[in-house]
Amino acid sequence: MPSSFYITTAIDYANGSPHLGHAYEKVLADVIARHARMSGRQTYFLTGLDEHGQKVQQTAQKRAIEPQVLVDEIAAVFQSMLGNLNISNDDYIRTTEVRHKIVVQDFLQRLFDQGLIYKGQKSDWYSTRQEQFLTDKDRAPDGSWPEIYGEVTQTTEENYYFKLAQFQEWLIGHISSHPDFITPRFRRNQVLEFLKEPMNDLCISRPKSRLTWGIELPFDKDFVTYVWFDALTNYYSAVAAKGLWPADVHVIGKDILSPPHAVYWPCMLKALNIELPRQLLVHGWWTVNNQKASKSAGNATDTLGFATSHGADAFRFYLCREMVVGQDADFSALTFENRYKADLGNNLGNLVNRLLNMVGRSYAGVIPAAHADEDLEKALRSLWVDTAKKYAADLAEFQISHALESVWVFISAMNAYIEARAPWKLAKSTDPLDRARLDSCLAHVAEGLRLVATVLTPVMPVTCDKLLMNIGRPVAITLAGQLDWSSVCTGSTVAAECILFPKIEPPPAQVPA
Ligand code: MSP
Repeated sequence: MPSSFYITTAIDYANGSPHLGHAYEKVLADVIARHARMSGRQTYFLTGLDEHGQKVQQTAQKRAIEPQVLVDEIAAVFQSMLGNLNISNDDYIRTTEVRHKIVVQDFLQRLFDQGLIYKGQKSDWYSTRQEQFLTDKDRAPDGSWPEIYGEVTQTTEENYYFKLAQFQEWLIGHISSHPDFITPRFRRNQVLEFLKEPMNDLCISRPKSRLTWGIELPFDKDFVTYVWFDALTNYYSAVAAKGLWPADVHVIGKDILSPPHAVYWPCMLKALNIELPRQLLVHGWWTVNNQKASKSAGNATDTLGFATSHGADAFRFYLCREMVVGQDADFSALTFENRYKADLGNNLGNLVNRLLNMVGRSYAGVIPAAHADEDLEKALRSLWVDTAKKYAADLAEFQISHALESVWVFISAMNAYIEARAPWKLAKSTDPLDRARLDSCLAHVAEGLRLVATVLTPVMPVTCDKLLMNIGRPVAITLAGQLDWSSVCTGSTVAAECILFPKIEPPPAQVPA
């Protein structure tokens, strides 16, 4: 396994406010990045903002401000979301930055010089909302244009085209011979299905008469480049000077897999003789109360508000636990609160307090060494061995929800272990064997919690740091050698009390106006 790791997210459109879909993708990539760092990989995590295009130009015009002023404003809002979610990105690229524009123009010029970009004229259907030309393939079965295209008009225009079609056979070959390039597998199959139809060349310019807010073509100043050509290049432009290319993983949503990431981007790179990214990790779509989550839907549930009311870690946990990577998921206040109370508060939070309490009462706050070793202890340790193995395997596949599921099986087993051992009874007994059992019980729970906090650090970094500090252990910065059952907690002094997941009062009921 290479020791360096370069991971990116899609760069969000600068044409609205951040929503759940944006938040989820950053959290998913952040968990993977934090896990990679803890695994000793030299990690670089990039995210950013997609700032050009017609919608930005139109909004700026409406507000009578310069587009740059608008995108500066929006960038600040998106960046503050990253802060609220405790995202550990190493870089933030904005497509209006000089470092980016230089690379886009260099790409365009190189393709033009190689004869891979040509000028042509086309009369076609054009969607203003999607800023793209449409073909009959894009029509709904009844012949109408799907709503996502907004107003569709027939336009005749001279434009520049990238010779995309000639890469089709190569692309099919690449995707077929690199089974992990598009993950999960069913998404890859969809792309291969899509590639059974012949591809067209890609229009990569927009005349300035229609769109000025873009990167100018270096060989024709009357045109700017198409937003996707501009946006995709961010992954390369951000690290061009750092020697970090190729990316290991591009984390993206299913709506922008094909054609942008699965077709345009690999073909652009191939044409430029640049190495391809290793993997596209394609996540599903969030709905909120079973409706599409989007700015226009004006969803009644303020999803991002949960990161403020319940803390970033609880929010990160919920998103990672609820969405099986690759599939769709639904967000609701009810499921959020249930997970907060049951998984976090009762199962994990109470377990920590039980430990602190008993160690405080019976051992003056110092974690004892394990003495008795009976079937209950052996079973718990053996379950941990399985859990650690599953965790590693699931994370290698980016299946965070499955990893969390098995960690919670282990946490539940620790709770059951305490019930079975009944340390509150052991503490009253005068039998030396019971005292030895009590030692073991508290030592095992402390060690189990240390292990749990270590593996959960990428998902809930602040909470896990706090947990570890409260059991007298240093925060977890590496996984190496830290996932084996040990006796390192023995002798540590625990805190008197630690509230990891406070009870949250529900907001006052909304009185209808
Ligand atoms: N600007 C382009 C991406 C360019 S990448 C070179 C774009 N922006 S976006 O703001 O519309 O979406 C950004 C990311 O958020 C995409 O990966 C998209 O799939 C994801 N999501 C947006 N809404 C979503 C949900 N409701 N659920 C999950 N993710 C979705 O596309």
